[in-house]
Amino acid sequence: MAQKITLITGCSSGIGLNLAVKLGKDAAKKYLVYSTMRNLGKKGPLQEAADSALNDTILIRPLDVKSDDSVKNAVSEIINEHGRIDIVVNNAGIASFNPIEYSPMHDIRDVLETNFFGPVRVIRAVLPYMKEQRSGHVINVTSVAGVAGYPFYETYCASKHAMEGLTESLAIRMKSFDVKLSSILPGPVDTNINDNIVEWNRLPAKGEVDQVTQKQLEILRIHARDHFDNMAQTSDEICDVICNVIETDAPNKPIRFKTGEFVDSRVSKKLVDFGGNTWVEFARKLIEEPMDLTKSEK
Ligand SMILES: NC(=O)c1ccc[n+]([C@@H]2O[C@H](COP(=O)([O-])OP(=O)(O)OC[C@H]3O[C@@H](n4cnc5c(N)ncnc54)[C@H](OP(=O)(O)O)[C@@H]3O)[C@@H](O)[C@H]2O)c1
Repeated sequence: MAQKITLITGCSSGIGLNLAVKLGKDAAKKYLVYSTMRNLGKKGPLQEAADSALNDTILIRPLDVKSDDSVKNAVSEIINEHGRIDIVVNNAGIASFNPIEYSPMHDIRDVLETNFFGPVRVIRAVLPYMKEQRSGHVINVTSVAGVAGYPFYETYCASKHAMEGLTESLAIRMKSFDVKLSSILPGPVDTNINDNIVEWNRLPAKGEVDQVTQKQLEILRIHARDHFDNMAQTSDEICDVICNVIETDAPNKPIRFKTGEFVDSRVSKKLVDFGGNTWVEFARKLIEEPMDLTKSEK
Protein backbone atom coordinates (compact mmCIF):
# COMPACT_ATOMS: atom_id res chain seq x y z
CA MET A 1 0.00 0.00 0.00
CA ALA A 2 1.26 3.50 -0.83
CA GLN A 3 2.64 5.52 2.07
CA LYS A 4 0.20 8.03 3.50
CA ILE A 5 1.60 11.48 2.89
CA THR A 6 1.06 13.29 6.17
CA LEU A 7 1.49 16.88 7.28
CA ILE A 8 1.52 17.86 10.97
CA THR A 9 1.81 21.43 12.23
CA GLY A 10 3.52 22.46 15.48
CA CYS A 11 6.02 19.59 15.83
CA SER A 12 8.65 21.41 17.91
CA SER A 13 7.15 20.08 21.15
CA GLY A 14 4.24 18.39 22.93
CA ILE A 15 1.52 16.57 21.02
CA GLY A 16 2.86 17.46 17.56
CA LEU A 17 6.36 16.18 18.26
CA ASN A 18 5.05 12.99 19.83
CA LEU A 19 2.60 12.33 16.98
CA ALA A 20 5.26 12.89 14.31
CA VAL A 21 7.45 10.28 16.01
CA LYS A 22 4.60 7.78 16.56
CA LEU A 23 3.46 7.92 12.94
CA GLY A 24 6.97 8.19 11.53
CA LYS A 25 8.14 5.15 13.48
CA ASP A 26 5.23 2.97 12.40
CA ALA A 27 6.74 -0.51 11.97
CA ALA A 28 5.27 -0.93 8.48
CA LYS A 29 6.40 2.59 7.47
CA LYS A 30 2.82 3.42 6.51
CA TYR A 31 3.36 7.17 6.88
CA LEU A 32 5.72 9.70 5.38
CA VAL A 33 5.47 12.50 7.90
CA TYR A 34 6.16 16.12 7.00
CA SER A 35 6.74 17.28 10.55
CA THR A 36 6.59 21.05 10.47
CA MET A 37 7.48 23.81 12.91
CA ARG A 38 7.62 27.59 12.71
CA ASN A 39 11.15 27.82 14.07
CA LEU A 40 13.63 25.25 12.77
CA GLY A 41 16.00 26.35 15.54
CA LYS A 42 13.78 24.16 17.78
CA LYS A 43 14.14 20.98 15.74
CA GLY A 44 16.69 19.35 18.14
CA PRO A 45 14.22 17.35 20.31
CA LEU A 46 12.36 16.02 17.25
CA GLN A 47 15.60 15.13 15.49
CA GLU A 48 16.71 13.23 18.54
CA ALA A 49 13.38 11.42 19.04
CA ALA A 50 13.12 10.60 15.32
CA ASP A 51 16.51 8.89 15.42
CA SER A 52 16.90 6.56 12.42
CA ALA A 53 13.51 7.61 10.99
CA LEU A 54 14.88 11.13 10.41
CA ASN A 55 14.97 11.93 6.69
CA ASP A 56 13.45 8.53 6.02
CA THR A 57 9.83 8.60 7.22
CA ILE A 58 10.15 11.81 9.27
CA LEU A 59 11.01 14.97 7.35
CA ILE A 60 11.35 18.27 9.20
CA ARG A 61 10.16 21.37 7.36
CA PRO A 62 9.35 25.00 8.21
CA LEU A 63 5.73 26.06 8.51
CA ASP A 64 4.35 29.06 10.36
CA VAL A 65 0.55 28.80 10.36
CA LYS A 66 0.28 32.60 10.60
CA SER A 67 1.97 33.07 7.23
CA ASP A 68 0.17 32.48 3.91
CA ASP A 69 3.49 32.03 2.09
CA SER A 70 4.88 29.60 4.63
CA VAL A 71 1.77 27.39 4.43
CA LYS A 72 1.72 27.57 0.61
CA ASN A 73 5.42 26.66 0.36
CA ALA A 74 5.10 23.66 2.66
CA VAL A 75 2.06 22.29 0.83
CA SER A 76 3.58 23.00 -2.62
CA GLU A 77 6.69 21.01 -1.72
CA ILE A 78 4.55 18.02 -0.78
CA ILE A 79 2.42 18.22 -3.91
CA ASN A 80 5.46 18.69 -6.16
CA GLU A 81 7.12 15.64 -4.60
CA HIS A 82 4.16 13.29 -4.32
CA GLY A 83 1.25 14.78 -6.24
CA ARG A 84 -1.03 14.12 -3.28
CA ILE A 85 -1.60 14.70 0.41
CA ASP A 86 -3.46 12.18 2.53
CA ILE A 87 -3.51 13.32 6.15
CA VAL A 88 -3.25 16.75 7.73
CA VAL A 89 -3.13 17.30 11.47
CA ASN A 90 -3.77 20.89 12.49
CA ASN A 91 -2.05 20.71 15.85
CA ALA A 92 -0.17 24.02 16.20
CA GLY A 93 -1.77 26.23 18.80
CA ILE A 94 -1.21 28.65 21.62
CA ALA A 95 -3.04 28.97 24.91
CA SER A 96 -4.32 32.18 26.36
CA PHE A 97 -5.41 33.00 29.87
CA ASN A 98 -6.66 36.51 30.35
CA PRO A 99 -9.67 38.64 31.17
CA ILE A 100 -10.79 39.77 27.74
CA GLU A 101 -11.70 43.31 28.85
CA TYR A 102 -8.11 43.88 29.97
CA SER A 103 -6.33 42.21 27.05
CA PRO A 104 -4.86 44.25 24.23
CA MET A 105 -6.67 43.57 20.93
CA HIS A 106 -3.45 42.41 19.31
CA ASP A 107 -3.11 39.59 21.90
CA ILE A 108 -6.69 38.52 21.26
CA ARG A 109 -6.14 38.62 17.49
CA ASP A 110 -2.93 36.65 17.85
CA VAL A 111 -4.74 33.73 19.47
CA LEU A 112 -7.36 33.65 16.70
CA GLU A 113 -4.65 34.11 14.07
CA THR A 114 -2.82 31.02 15.32
CA ASN A 115 -5.62 28.74 16.52
CA PHE A 116 -8.28 29.53 13.92
CA PHE A 117 -6.91 31.35 10.88
CA GLY A 118 -3.81 29.10 11.03
CA PRO A 119 -5.76 25.87 10.42
CA VAL A 120 -7.99 27.75 7.96
CA ARG A 121 -4.87 28.60 5.89
CA VAL A 122 -3.71 24.99 5.96
CA ILE A 123 -7.16 23.60 5.11
CA ARG A 124 -7.59 26.06 2.21
CA ALA A 125 -4.19 25.01 0.87
CA VAL A 126 -4.81 21.24 0.96
CA LEU A 127 -8.52 20.97 0.25
CA PRO A 128 -8.35 21.43 -3.55
CA TYR A 129 -5.92 18.47 -3.78
CA MET A 130 -7.94 16.27 -1.44
CA LYS A 131 -11.14 17.06 -3.35
CA GLU A 132 -9.42 16.28 -6.64
CA GLN A 133 -7.99 12.98 -5.37
CA ARG A 134 -11.37 12.12 -3.78
CA SER A 135 -9.70 11.21 -0.49
CA GLY A 136 -8.00 12.77 2.49
CA HIS A 137 -8.37 13.28 6.21
CA VAL A 138 -8.07 16.58 8.07
CA ILE A 139 -7.71 16.23 11.84
CA ASN A 140 -8.06 19.32 13.97
CA VAL A 141 -6.72 19.28 17.52
CA THR A 142 -9.27 21.44 19.31
CA SER A 143 -10.03 21.05 23.03
CA VAL A 144 -12.78 20.52 25.57
CA ALA A 145 -12.63 24.34 25.41
CA GLY A 146 -14.08 23.91 21.92
CA VAL A 147 -17.47 22.92 23.33
CA ALA A 148 -17.52 24.52 26.79
CA GLY A 149 -16.59 27.98 28.05
CA TYR A 150 -14.06 28.55 30.82
CA PRO A 151 -13.44 31.76 32.77
CA PHE A 152 -10.28 33.62 31.72
CA TYR A 153 -9.81 31.25 28.77
CA GLU A 154 -12.33 33.34 26.83
CA THR A 155 -10.20 33.96 23.76
CA TYR A 156 -8.80 30.43 23.71
CA CYS A 157 -12.33 28.98 24.00
CA ALA A 158 -13.55 31.26 21.21
CA SER A 159 -10.76 30.03 18.93
CA LYS A 160 -11.46 26.35 19.68
CA HIS A 161 -15.26 26.79 19.38
CA ALA A 162 -14.57 28.33 15.96
CA MET A 163 -12.58 25.24 15.00
CA GLU A 164 -15.38 22.94 16.14
CA GLY A 165 -17.86 24.88 14.01
CA LEU A 166 -15.55 24.79 11.03
CA THR A 167 -14.86 21.07 11.37
CA GLU A 168 -18.51 20.10 11.61
CA SER A 169 -19.65 22.42 8.83
CA LEU A 170 -16.96 21.36 6.41
CA ALA A 171 -17.50 17.66 7.18
CA ILE A 172 -21.00 17.93 5.75
CA ARG A 173 -19.91 19.16 2.32
CA MET A 174 -16.70 17.14 2.11
CA LYS A 175 -18.56 13.82 2.43
CA SER A 176 -19.40 14.18 -1.28
CA PHE A 177 -15.64 14.17 -2.00
CA ASP A 178 -14.77 11.35 0.44
CA VAL A 179 -12.65 13.81 2.41
CA LYS A 180 -12.95 13.21 6.17
CA LEU A 181 -12.80 15.78 8.94
CA SER A 182 -12.24 14.96 12.59
CA SER A 183 -11.68 16.96 15.71
CA ILE A 184 -9.83 15.76 18.79
CA LEU A 185 -10.87 17.30 22.11
CA PRO A 186 -8.27 16.89 24.86
CA GLY A 187 -8.71 18.24 28.38
CA PRO A 188 -5.52 19.24 30.21
CA VAL A 189 -2.42 17.65 28.70
CA ASP A 190 0.97 17.57 30.33
CA THR A 191 2.87 19.66 27.77
CA ASN A 192 4.63 23.02 27.98
CA ILE A 193 1.68 24.91 26.51
CA ASN A 194 1.09 26.98 29.64
CA ASP A 195 4.70 28.07 29.91
CA ASN A 196 4.18 30.00 26.72
CA ILE A 197 1.27 32.01 28.16
CA VAL A 198 2.71 35.32 29.19
CA GLU A 199 -0.17 36.06 31.58
CA TRP A 200 0.18 32.71 33.33
CA ASN A 201 3.37 33.66 35.07
CA ARG A 202 2.30 37.15 35.90
CA LEU A 203 -0.47 38.04 38.35
CA PRO A 204 -1.59 41.54 37.56
CA ALA A 205 -0.26 44.07 40.02
CA LYS A 206 -2.73 45.45 42.54
CA GLY A 207 -4.92 48.05 40.85
CA GLU A 208 -4.21 46.73 37.35
CA VAL A 209 -7.54 44.90 37.23
CA ASP A 210 -10.63 45.39 39.41
CA GLN A 211 -10.67 43.63 42.78
CA VAL A 212 -13.33 41.04 41.94
CA THR A 213 -11.46 40.00 38.80
CA GLN A 214 -8.18 39.96 40.70
CA LYS A 215 -9.60 37.57 43.29
CA GLN A 216 -11.19 35.33 40.64
CA LEU A 217 -7.93 35.23 38.75
CA GLU A 218 -6.03 34.12 41.83
CA ILE A 219 -8.56 31.36 42.57
CA LEU A 220 -8.69 30.18 38.96
CA ARG A 221 -4.93 29.91 38.82
CA ILE A 222 -5.05 27.54 41.80
CA HIS A 223 -7.80 25.41 40.19
CA ALA A 224 -6.08 25.41 36.84
CA ARG A 225 -2.81 24.27 38.39
CA ASP A 226 -4.75 21.55 40.28
CA HIS A 227 -6.30 20.41 37.04
CA PHE A 228 -2.95 20.17 35.36
CA ASP A 229 -1.35 18.47 38.38
CA ASN A 230 -4.14 15.94 39.01
CA MET A 231 -5.99 15.36 35.78
CA ALA A 232 -3.64 16.02 32.90
CA GLN A 233 -3.26 13.31 30.31
CA THR A 234 0.10 12.68 28.71
CA SER A 235 0.70 13.72 25.12
CA ASP A 236 1.29 10.02 24.49
CA GLU A 237 -2.33 9.26 25.43
CA ILE A 238 -3.60 12.00 23.13
CA CYS A 239 -1.44 10.72 20.26
CA ASP A 240 -2.80 7.19 20.74
CA VAL A 241 -6.31 8.60 20.27
CA ILE A 242 -5.21 10.50 17.14
CA CYS A 243 -3.47 7.41 15.69
CA ASN A 244 -6.61 5.41 16.33
CA VAL A 245 -8.73 8.05 14.58
CA ILE A 246 -6.35 7.94 11.61
CA GLU A 247 -6.27 4.15 11.40
CA THR A 248 -9.90 3.26 12.04
CA ASP A 249 -12.22 3.47 9.11
CA ALA A 250 -15.93 2.96 9.55
CA PRO A 251 -18.89 4.15 7.51
CA ASN A 252 -20.41 6.18 10.34
CA LYS A 253 -17.23 7.31 11.97
CA PRO A 254 -17.87 10.22 14.38
CA ILE A 255 -16.48 13.68 13.70
CA ARG A 256 -15.59 14.52 17.29
CA PHE A 257 -13.35 12.48 19.61
CA LYS A 258 -12.90 12.78 23.37
CA THR A 259 -9.53 11.78 24.76
CA GLY A 260 -10.40 10.62 28.26
CA GLU A 261 -12.63 10.62 31.34
CA PHE A 262 -12.13 14.27 32.26
CA VAL A 263 -13.27 15.37 28.82
CA ASP A 264 -16.14 12.93 28.96
CA SER A 265 -17.46 14.40 32.22
CA ARG A 266 -17.16 17.98 30.95
CA VAL A 267 -18.48 17.43 27.45
CA SER A 268 -21.42 15.33 28.62
CA LYS A 269 -22.43 18.02 31.14
CA LYS A 270 -22.24 20.69 28.50
CA LEU A 271 -23.86 19.02 25.51
CA VAL A 272 -27.17 18.31 27.29
CA ASP A 273 -27.39 21.89 28.59
CA PHE A 274 -28.80 23.93 25.73
CA GLY A 275 -29.63 26.96 27.88
CA GLY A 276 -26.16 27.03 29.39
CA ASN A 277 -27.09 27.79 33.02
CA THR A 278 -26.03 24.42 34.37
CA TRP A 279 -22.62 24.80 32.78
CA VAL A 280 -22.20 28.41 33.90
CA GLU A 281 -23.01 27.46 37.49
CA PHE A 282 -20.62 24.51 37.33
CA ALA A 283 -17.79 26.51 35.78
CA ARG A 284 -18.29 29.34 38.30
CA LYS A 285 -16.85 27.00 40.91
CA LEU A 286 -13.55 27.54 39.18
CA ILE A 287 -13.51 31.16 40.30
CA GLU A 288 -15.05 30.70 43.72
CA GLU A 289 -13.27 29.73 46.91
CA PRO A 290 -10.77 26.91 46.32
CA MET A 291 -12.25 23.45 46.64
CA ASP A 292 -11.17 20.03 45.53
CA LEU A 293 -12.71 19.89 42.06
CA THR A 294 -11.04 16.58 41.35
CA LYS A 295 -13.28 14.99 44.02
CA SER A 296 -16.45 16.90 43.16
CA GLU A 297 -16.23 15.79 39.56
CA LYS A 298 -15.93 12.09 40.12
N1 LIG B 1 -1.78 21.02 26.57
C1 LIG B 1 -3.09 21.08 26.79
O1 LIG B 1 -3.53 21.10 27.94
C2 LIG B 1 -4.05 21.09 25.62
C3 LIG B 1 -5.40 20.84 25.89
C4 LIG B 1 -6.30 20.84 24.84
C5 LIG B 1 -5.87 21.11 23.56
N2 LIG B 1 -4.54 21.36 23.32
C6 LIG B 1 -4.14 21.69 21.96
O2 LIG B 1 -3.13 20.80 21.52
C7 LIG B 1 -2.35 21.43 20.52
C8 LIG B 1 -0.88 21.19 20.79
O3 LIG B 1 -0.51 21.82 22.01
P1 LIG B 1 0.54 21.21 23.05
O4 LIG B 1 -0.19 20.98 24.31
O5 LIG B 1 1.30 20.12 22.43
O6 LIG B 1 1.45 22.49 23.33
P2 LIG B 1 2.95 22.88 22.89
O7 LIG B 1 3.89 21.85 23.37
O8 LIG B 1 3.13 24.29 23.34
O9 LIG B 1 2.91 22.80 21.31
C9 LIG B 1 2.33 23.80 20.52
C10 LIG B 1 3.01 23.77 19.18
O10 LIG B 1 2.39 24.75 18.33
C11 LIG B 1 3.43 25.50 17.75
N3 LIG B 1 3.02 26.81 17.26
C12 LIG B 1 2.60 27.89 17.95
N4 LIG B 1 2.37 28.91 17.10
C13 LIG B 1 2.66 28.45 15.84
C14 LIG B 1 2.65 29.02 14.55
N5 LIG B 1 2.30 30.31 14.35
N6 LIG B 1 2.99 28.26 13.48
C15 LIG B 1 3.36 26.96 13.66
N7 LIG B 1 3.45 26.38 14.87
C16 LIG B 1 3.10 27.12 15.95
C17 LIG B 1 4.49 25.60 18.82
O11 LIG B 1 5.72 26.03 18.25
P3 LIG B 1 6.81 26.91 19.08
O12 LIG B 1 7.62 25.90 19.82
O13 LIG B 1 7.58 27.62 18.02
O14 LIG B 1 6.05 27.81 19.99
C18 LIG B 1 4.50 24.15 19.28
O15 LIG B 1 5.23 23.36 18.38
C19 LIG B 1 -2.76 22.91 20.52
O16 LIG B 1 -3.63 23.17 19.43
C20 LIG B 1 -3.51 23.05 21.83
O17 LIG B 1 -4.48 24.10 21.79
C21 LIG B 1 -3.62 21.34 24.33
